Amino acid sequence: MAKKTMVYQCHQCGSETSRWVGQCPGCGAWSTLEELSKVPITRQEHYTNYSGTLSTVQPLSEVQSNTESRLPSGLSELDRVLGGGLVAGSVVLIGGNPGIGKSTLLLQALAAMGIAQQGRVLYLTGEESLAQIHLRAQRLNLSKAPVRLLADTLIERSLAVAEKEQPLVMVVDSIQTLYSEQLQSAPGTVTQVRESAGQLLRYAKKNGVAVILVGHVTKDGALAGPRVLEHMVDTVLYFEGDDGERLRVLRAVKNRFGAVNELGVFAMTEQGLQEVNNPSAIFLARGKEPVPGSAVTVIREGSRPLLVEVQALVDDSHLASPRRVTVGLEPNRLAMLLAIIHRHGAMMPSAQDVFINVVGGVRVNETGADLAILAAIVSSLRDAPLLQDLILFGEVGLTGEIRPVPGGEERLAAAVKHGFKQAILPRANLPKYIPKEVHITPVNRVSEALEVLKN
Ligand code: TYD
Ligand code: MG
Repeated sequence: MAKKTMVYQCHQCGSETSRWVGQCPGCGAWSTLEELSKVPITRQEHYTNYSGTLSTVQPLSEVQSNTESRLPSGLSELDRVLGGGLVAGSVVLIGGNPGIGKSTLLLQALAAMGIAQQGRVLYLTGEESLAQIHLRAQRLNLSKAPVRLLADTLIERSLAVAEKEQPLVMVVDSIQTLYSEQLQSAPGTVTQVRESAGQLLRYAKKNGVAVILVGHVTKDGALAGPRVLEHMVDTVLYFEGDDGERLRVLRAVKNRFGAVNELGVFAMTEQGLQEVNNPSAIFLARGKEPVPGSAVTVIREGSRPLLVEVQALVDDSHLASPRRVTVGLEPNRLAMLLAIIHRHGAMMPSAQDVFINVVGGVRVNETGADLAILAAIVSSLRDAPLLQDLILFGEVGLTGEIRPVPGGEERLAAAVKHGFKQAILPRANLPKYIPKEVHITPVNRVSEALEVLKN
């Protein structure tokens, strides 16, 4: 038996050191190292005298694919993000700020499942008491729902109950509250979270149960606990939204069984979460009067084109280095666009504060919104509103060219459906059949686009 040694692992990034230090050398976070006992790697070749049964090697072509059966979750927006429902034996991790509505979402999903009627859904709560969950259920009008509840925090005991219950879907709220009696450390520590997740993973695979884990997020928005949790599970979803706002967006950041970046949109109401099947309509709830600094674009999130409004405010700065603030957009993208406006549009936003906001709490991760952001900035700078029925999309390159984006026709079709009558888009995105409801201005260069926007 090899001798155990102690190492210290960061619970944010998972990097290890041999000594305890205040600041993690991996990610720079403070006081995140925790003790971890570890059996060192030995140099001996253990496999030469391996005595257990051996698994067989198979040619890829002969592997039987068992077409994974999907279990609809009862909420179509959640199914969309999952890639068509829950897969038996898979583990899904849902992260989100406290109070965003994770528990509400999962209780509603469980209650809406067809298999709930047969008593095959289990909600394991370590965070709230059964009475608290009952209160929530009353609020959601679900107090009669056939959801089976278990309040426990010891993972071994909970799984022993689950083996008896034989659920098809099990929710664990939350993974940070569970602990294993195999370990001495406190609940919520890296080792405990990892051990509990590991046991749940094995339980899910062995019994073909779809397990949904709720995970807390840290102040800067990453899932708390070891990063390894994200690597262990099959699917990682984030539930996001502005605190004051009712809109909630569910996003897949990792999915072994579907596309990532798929969005599900919900609205938090007095009676729980309501699905929003046509989110563009909400993200576009604008006033009737055209105002400077507002532009509309179509982004593609997963399989669905989404119309969003981008707002810009350019204002004289009183600071030595003007402020550049973005909400829902990568700040570097803004810096780049400002440089392009300066160089290729001969306009001077350099002595001014620039604020960008993507309305409705949406995050824009793709370059298709570049042209609209640029138009919004220029509109605010010139104090001239854009046309109300104008849609723009396209990527803006550093050399001042406007590049095509994937799914041009689809984006245009979505805009036309929402009543947009003017479009500025990359020339290379010009569709073969132009819908007659819309007037299209194709552009190749930033200078061309700025010229068009003047009129
Ligand atoms: P919850 O699901 O407890 O959040 P989480 O599990 O992510 O911490 O949601 C709690 C918030 O949602 C709370 O601030 C109240 C609000 N809420 C409503 O607005 N309407 C409702 O019907 C319910 C159940 C909650
Ligand atoms: Mg909760």
